[in-house]
Amino acid sequence: MRVLVTGGAGFIGSHIVAALASAGHEPVVYDALLPAAHPGEPALPDAEFVHGDVRDAGELEKALRGVDAVCHQAAMVGLGKDFADAPGYVSCNDHGTAVLLAAMARAGIDRLVQAGSMVVYGEGRYSCPQHGVVRPGPRDVADLEAGRFEPRCSWCGAELEPGLVGEDSPVDPRNVYATTKLAQEHLAASWARATGGAAISLRYHNVYGPGMPRDTPYAGVASFFRSALQRGEAPRVFEDGGQRRDFVHVSDVASANLRALDAIGDRPGGGHKAYNTGSGQPRTVGEMATALATAFGGPAPVVTGEFRLGDVRHITADSARLRRELGWAPRVGFAAGMTEFARSPQRASAGMAV
Ligand SMILES: NC(=O)c1ccc[n+]([C@@H]2O[C@H](COP(=O)([O-])OP(=O)(O)OC[C@H]3O[C@@H](n4cnc5c(N)ncnc54)[C@H](O)[C@@H]3O)[C@@H](O)[C@H]2O)c1
Ligand SMILES: [Zn+2]
Repeated sequence: MRVLVTGGAGFIGSHIVAALASAGHEPVVYDALLPAAHPGEPALPDAEFVHGDVRDAGELEKALRGVDAVCHQAAMVGLGKDFADAPGYVSCNDHGTAVLLAAMARAGIDRLVQAGSMVVYGEGRYSCPQHGVVRPGPRDVADLEAGRFEPRCSWCGAELEPGLVGEDSPVDPRNVYATTKLAQEHLAASWARATGGAAISLRYHNVYGPGMPRDTPYAGVASFFRSALQRGEAPRVFEDGGQRRDFVHVSDVASANLRALDAIGDRPGGGHKAYNTGSGQPRTVGEMATALATAFGGPAPVVTGEFRLGDVRHITADSARLRRELGWAPRVGFAAGMTEFARSPQRASAGMAV
């Protein structure tokens, strides 16, 4: 199948392009090469390449000729510097998605797989021994300063137990980026209803692996630690290192995209569906720092007790739906993936001396 991969020159997109090619498909990279993602000369994937912006309907119309499905990875990522960046995020991610979907509708292309994100859930899922599943409010500064990092029940003040977030959990996008990722899903759902097309959003967890940008401000904690080790410094772990995440290897994210592209081809009805995409093996940030430092042969991590207001304490996906319905299984385990990541090259990214 001929697949247009928007953002195909980026970290995740370039792995998808390679996976498509090795499975015998025909990927076409469509990427605007945003300076924030490509401050230097980009290393382009070995595939047909169109230098274009997803907001450019004319360029898209040409690129979509002969295409069977679209794999939409292009987005402005990260949290931005401040709220003044909001129009840029909305333009790139939401206006861009709308222009892409309209062009697909005109071209009669009815299959879409797109990059979603766990950020749509906000704070994770928690339960109180007494009150069951609850949504914690913001953590108290006095608690954080005293080293009490676990969120508390807003009814009784008890420490909450973290749980796995399923796709039907309520959404709670807490920043502009998260809002644009959620809007992309709503746009895909509207497109599917209006055109009869089929769309899948893969809500990625913390993706890591070869080619990860060096200082990505978003979900980039593995990247920060790796860069510190490279400089000969110990990774600095915030809070008490007990924050839980799900680190999923980029090759597994690529294979999830391939599974989703195959699955929507077989689907008789249209519609939109979201799937969490994580390894299914939650780890703490402290465990990840130790695994990386050990594999790198660098100094052991330092747990600093520092904190950032607004950081999510625990967020871990339940990716069972993707395994059950699409038959996907991650291949790269935590230890092997981190050992490889400790040694593999990172990509330059904006704001870093290369
Ligand atoms: N990295 C993660 O952990 C993570 C987690 C959740 C979701 N995601 C999502 O995965 C996707 C890929 O992210 P990534 O980490 O590979 O980022 P990246 O910055 O490496 O790649 C994004 C690519 O999209 C291109 N792009 C951006 N805006 C464009 C536009 N308007 N037109 C055409 N091309 C454009 C950029 O030039 C870049 O090559 C994004 O949609 C992101 O929201 C990433
Ligand atoms: Zn309670």
